[in-house]
Amino acid sequence: MATIATETGSSYAAVLGVGSYRPSRVIPNADIVDAIDSSDEWIQQRSGIRQRRFANAEETVQMMSVAAARKAIDRAGIAPEQIDCVIVATVTHLLQTPAIATAIAYELGTDQAAAFDISAACAGFCHGLALADQMVRGGASRYSLVIGVERLSDLTDMEDRGTAFIFADGAGAAIVGPSDSPGIGPVVWGSDGEQFDLIRQKEDWRDIVAMERPVLPYLTMQGNPVFRWASFTMAKVAQQALDKAGIAPDDLDVFVPHQANMRIIDAMARAMKLPERVAIARDIADQGNTSAASIPLALDRMIDEGQAKSGDIALLIAFGAGLAYAAQVITVP
Ligand code: COA
Repeated sequence: MATIATETGSSYAAVLGVGSYRPSRVIPNADIVDAIDSSDEWIQQRSGIRQRRFANAEETVQMMSVAAARKAIDRAGIAPEQIDCVIVATVTHLLQTPAIATAIAYELGTDQAAAFDISAACAGFCHGLALADQMVRGGASRYSLVIGVERLSDLTDMEDRGTAFIFADGAGAAIVGPSDSPGIGPVVWGSDGEQFDLIRQKEDWRDIVAMERPVLPYLTMQGNPVFRWASFTMAKVAQQALDKAGIAPDDLDVFVPHQANMRIIDAMARAMKLPERVAIARDIADQGNTSAASIPLALDRMIDEGQAKSGDIALLIAFGAGLAYAAQVITVP
């Protein structure tokens, strides 16, 4: 009987380059507070957010993705034609089909790369990274481009007190490719669908079409249970990712948690008893919560500002709607 041939890839995979794009409109808390009867002080105290960035009309999901990707490609020192797979994590590409990844792959000048979108909300980038790692080692891809991108301002009800001050826009990207040594540790990922409704779009497209005055499918969030889940459960997941990678907290240089809320970041760092010397991403203060884009945006900033240096060991953890989560240890490119 005939047997099917299989393939294997590189022994190890690594992140070879990171890039990001921050939209041009800076929106301070003062511009948000009136519509939600809030204050700059309340927002800073509860979330750590001082300002966020919103995209303008030209800063589309595709445009921001391409800009972030070009920087990552440049940093990785490869040509766009070498990219054979493009994975885009987003929940704000508002065409259900086709995937925006194919248009991005084309605009970047890849040679007909495999291209698809994934929907894992704020956890999307780390899901994409896990897929790319497996594909490079499994042989399905040599150079994968992973993008996390959101235009959450399109899906945020600016009169909703629970979400208007949190969400923001931006894009981040990473090139994953072959490496001589392990650059991406085992992923720890999972979901808790029992809490499906905690962060979600209010309506699906059919409900919207049936509305007397249709609106975009805004996001809604039950902040309190999300806060508790993220602060306590996610520290354990982050610890598991360290354990699986054989990395002790003392070996860690950089911690890049999803930029959901400064209080969650602080609570996780405390629960994990991270040594003082570990650099912790705090991009949320200036950027808001950009869901799938938050980790590559924060990591790219730390690289640019010298807080994360080439060869450093970094722990990434992403979590959000679903509820879905994913964490892994990487070497900073
Ligand atoms: N501005 C001012 N006051 C507000 C407010 C706002 N935007 N939203 C709620 N409040 C008030 C409430 O009316 C309530 O007042 P009361 O005590 O007089 O009744 C008080 O603040 C507390 O409300 P509550 O809803 O319990 O707020 P909270 O302490 O849970 O804080 C969040 C709200 C959203 C900041 C918090 O739940 C949170 O950070 N959750 C996690 C969100 C997150 O990270 N999501 C992303 C996950 S990917």
